[in-house]
Amino acid sequence: VGLETLLQNTGPRPFRALKVSINTLNSAWKRTGSQRRSFRTSGILSRQPLPVTKLCFSLFLSVEFQLSKQYGPVFSIQMGPQKTVVLTGYETVKEALVNQADAFADRPIIPMFQELAQGFGESYLCIGNPFETTTIMNAAVANIIVALLLDKRFDYEDPTYIRLLKLVNENIRLTIKQNRDELFAFINATFIKHLRDLDENDQRSFIDSFLIQQQEVMESFKLEKKKKTNAYFHNENLKAVVANLFGAGVETTSTTLRWGLLLMMKYPEIQSELKVQEEIAKVVGSSQPRIEHRTKMPYTDAVVHEIQRFANIVPTNLPHATATDVTLNGYFIPKGTHIIPLLSSVLHDESQWEKPHKFYPEHFLNSEGKFVKRDAFMPFSAGRRACLGETLAKTELFLFFTSLLQGFTFQPPPGTSQEDLDLTPAVGLTTSPMPHQLCALPRF
Ligand code: HEM
Repeated sequence: VGLETLLQNTGPRPFRALKVSINTLNSAWKRTGSQRRSFRTSGILSRQPLPVTKLCFSLFLSVEFQLSKQYGPVFSIQMGPQKTVVLTGYETVKEALVNQADAFADRPIIPMFQELAQGFGESYLCIGNPFETTTIMNAAVANIIVALLLDKRFDYEDPTYIRLLKLVNENIRLTIKQNRDELFAFINATFIKHLRDLDENDQRSFIDSFLIQQQEVMESFKLEKKKKTNAYFHNENLKAVVANLFGAGVETTSTTLRWGLLLMMKYPEIQSELKVQEEIAKVVGSSQPRIEHRTKMPYTDAVVHEIQRFANIVPTNLPHATATDVTLNGYFIPKGTHIIPLLSSVLHDESQWEKPHKFYPEHFLNSEGKFVKRDAFMPFSAGRRACLGETLAKTELFLFFTSLLQGFTFQPPPGTSQEDLDLTPAVGLTTSPMPHQLCALPRF
């Protein structure tokens, strides 16, 4: 199946029937106590419920600013039968996820949520000729997870690997039971056969360590002569963890890198021998980039951060739920309420960023050109549920980006100008760039 067909089949079509409306919190919950803030009683923004397709696009990518300007940083939306509270802006999201971390740390169960994720396309790399980057980036990034899990890497042409990538990606996109079964069977066959050559004194991968732990726990049960359930170190959990790491760690990182290359094509003066490539030449030279180089490369570090801020690849965050009754900004929110801490509203918060809607690496540089951390930089979210893979992802982004720009200059295909390059995000659970091609010109 080609990229076009898959992209056409991706999307929220099954939910057209589902209607959504946006309300202020007051219409969601009646006040029940005098300590609770008094809500306005007429606050319905859209009496004609919006179809969820429209809502996803507008709410998550731009309209949140207008909604929050009109209704404040905390408002509720009605998605079918489900009331959901949306939190917008750096201060409010930080107040919930960081200052009241425990109360906002639960996850709701939303079976259909996964279906909104992005697509997967087939393509091939052909240096010199224009090419599409999805498959090659996914393959490169997935091999990092494979290395951690298995201490090996797959050849990009290996049919088993191609099938694995397809299964993982389709699984993010669609909840296909058949795929999940095949993925789990694959993990069983490929990963758990590890057990045969397991050496306690030479643990080289995550799966080695997991299986050793499993054996130790079972041994201790036997010694204690107790019948206990091994709550964590059982095969079902191993399969789930492996599937989750692929699901969460591949598309996010590879999509960010694809945004990075697109932005370098759009802004050649930033990519150029005077900026990123100049810094790479000065600090790394022709040796292999290492993570220790990062502190000596403030401009490149700032560009990678700005790519993440601008690309805003998980605009809606993953959904949270309140673990207890809680009061936020004076609003009472009952336990078990679905919460969307909107990351796009933090990454584009006008009170936090000088040029929130522009690609502007100077957001992360001081007047002396030194790298500066920014509190509103939250692409990985914050608090107790923040991304588990943040450190790994940051390392990968720096190393892949630096290596690619060390070796190549990225340009639009012949006949396409910088102005033609479209920075509008494609809509999905993660926002990837619109399908595009690029040319990689070897630098040496
Ligand atoms: C650029 C790359 C990445 C971005 C932008 C990203 C972003 C996120 C975000 C926004 C969340 C939701 C946090 C929340 O609910 O508050 C999340 C969760 C998660 N991420 Fe990442 N992520 C990235 C890469 C990775 C990688 C490389 C891995 C693992 C290898 C990973 C593993 C996870 C896991 C396991 C969760 C769920 C944590 C939980 O439920 O407690 N992510 N990520």
